[in-house]
Amino acid sequence: MLIGTRVRLRMLTKTDVEEMAAWDDDAEIEKYIGKKFAPYETPLEWYSNLLKDNRQRGLAIETLDGQFIGDVGLQEISWRKRSAEVRICIADKEYWGRGYGTEALQILIRYAFEELGLEVLYLRVYADNLRAIRCYEKCGFEKKGRVRFSSRGNGDLLLMILDRRRWRGQRELAKATG
Ligand SMILES: CC(C)(COP(=O)(O)OP(=O)(O)OC[C@H]1O[C@@H](n2cnc3c(N)ncnc32)[C@H](O)[C@@H]1OP(=O)(O)O)[C@@H](O)C(=O)NCCC(=O)NCCS
Repeated sequence: MLIGTRVRLRMLTKTDVEEMAAWDDDAEIEKYIGKKFAPYETPLEWYSNLLKDNRQRGLAIETLDGQFIGDVGLQEISWRKRSAEVRICIADKEYWGRGYGTEALQILIRYAFEELGLEVLYLRVYADNLRAIRCYEKCGFEKKGRVRFSSRGNGDLLLMILDRRRWRGQRELAKATG
């Protein structure tokens, strides 16, 4: 289990996935991340795929008092290139803008770089998702590209990247400056 001061990341359970199915019907969440389970017959098919696919990791985000509030993960893991795409969703809106997403992501980043030995993390985010962009920047991600992608009405799509060297440098600087 991966623990911070607000949240812990733990294995997703079948019960979590049943709860996540309701999140998939939320229009505001869909606007930001699309429908997670759309390509699958059932949410449980997505789950069983997650468990057997070594190119993915999916973890539940839980508050320290045990509330399941979202999920975070890595997909498209390339063990050869040591890279992966990051995804995150705090589905319980009560917890938006209170630092939970940033902490969950910081824990995932540490896990990806230190436990899995990855070198580069990247993500895609709609340009109008300012809360998410701010969260990613606080975690050290940099905007590296912009793709014209307005078919869903969310404006352009940004590519953001964080590599292990930059992340280490930022951590050392943060330690040195207190
Ligand atoms: C994106 C998400 C993971 C961020 O997690 P979070 O816990 O809400 O974010 P945090 O509180 O850690 O950080 C958000 C930051 O954005 C800021 N923010 C919030 N709304 C903002 C806005 N409209 N414009 C600019 N900044 C904004 C907050 O003030 C905070 O910055 P600060 O700490 O400097 O004050 C979460 O909101 C979420 O899952 N949203 C729905 C799904 C989604 O968008 N997923 C990402 C898809 S790429």
